[in-house]
Amino acid sequence: MGTGRARLAASILDADFSNLGYAVRRAQKNGADRIHLDVMDGHFVPNLTFGPATVKGLRRITELPLDVHLMISEPSRYVQQFVDAGSDSITFHVEIDEPIEPTLRIIRAGRRAAGLAVKPATPLSALEPYRRLLDIVLVMTVEPGFGGQKFMKEPAKKILPARDLLSHKPVGGEVHVDGGINRETAEYVGGLAVDVLVVGSALWIKGHDMAREIRLIKALADEGFQYQLNDGKPPIPRDNWVTFASLPKAIGRQLMYEIEAGGIPVIMLRADGQINPDGVRDYELLVPAQVEALTHDRHAVARAARLQEADAWRAELRAQQAADLAAGIPIDRSKLHWTQITDEDLQRPRRPRS
Ligand code: DX5
Ligand code: ZN
Repeated sequence: MGTGRARLAASILDADFSNLGYAVRRAQKNGADRIHLDVMDGHFVPNLTFGPATVKGLRRITELPLDVHLMISEPSRYVQQFVDAGSDSITFHVEIDEPIEPTLRIIRAGRRAAGLAVKPATPLSALEPYRRLLDIVLVMTVEPGFGGQKFMKEPAKKILPARDLLSHKPVGGEVHVDGGINRETAEYVGGLAVDVLVVGSALWIKGHDMAREIRLIKALADEGFQYQLNDGKPPIPRDNWVTFASLPKAIGRQLMYEIEAGGIPVIMLRADGQINPDGVRDYELLVPAQVEALTHDRHAVARAARLQEADAWRAELRAQQAADLAAGIPIDRSKLHWTQITDEDLQRPRRPRS
């Protein structure tokens, strides 16, 4: 995984269709974070591409996430097939003439990320009724149908406000931009905090070094973000995690549930926490660095309470052990850290036995 904030999804629409497997492997080898698959039905857009069988075939040859972009009039008819084919996310257009919500629910029931796309002339208000069901908002900056068209700046202005539609997802909600993204336009859309840049034709130019193109486009998007929205500070890499609390396992788990209920993922790790009188180390609760401040705002009070609870538990355990010892009741040697070894001793390197 790359550092930095922006992610790049390689669209294979302009690759050589006689060997799509090769195209996907090549994009992966050259640093694409995702593969973007454009499905067209010759009806919703004046072009035809491929269906679920192709997605299924490509699923076998790459571990990269597959973002499926359905430009079809009846997604409800085919969506289950795209779920079964192994798509990681499925995004379809809000401009279709059939109910939207059932299709979003099928995607969610399949535990895939669900998205809605807007054509250049469609306002974000069209997505409003479905916001709670969305993981992805895809902003089109060309008319859907073909690769290699010129980027439209006006519709790109929807990128920043699109984030508000995903406010129920402090982590994991994504705004994608699709159409005309290249080294000329990446900085601008990065400055609007886009999460995923869909890049098609710019990657498949003969004689161009694809890896360099991908690095350049991502770096430019991150620069745009840094100077437009982040006070000149480089963005926090998306994969960074920070320790929010160090707690005994059972107590830590409670805090983890509370944090995750608000949509912030937590990783609980047996790491370098202090050793408790029961001989088990504290667990570390990690949260994504991007939402460290938010986690603090929401849960600092609960954390203080849990730390107190942990201290009380330790004190109780120690008192019990002291009482047992005084009464001559044998104590499990593995649970004697509090009498035999201090925390400080644990920090020091062990002295070799003489
Ligand atoms: C167009 C597709 C795009 C297309 C983008 O309808 O949705 O994903 O591949 O191609 P470029 O990057 O060339 O505009
Ligand atoms: Zn697309």
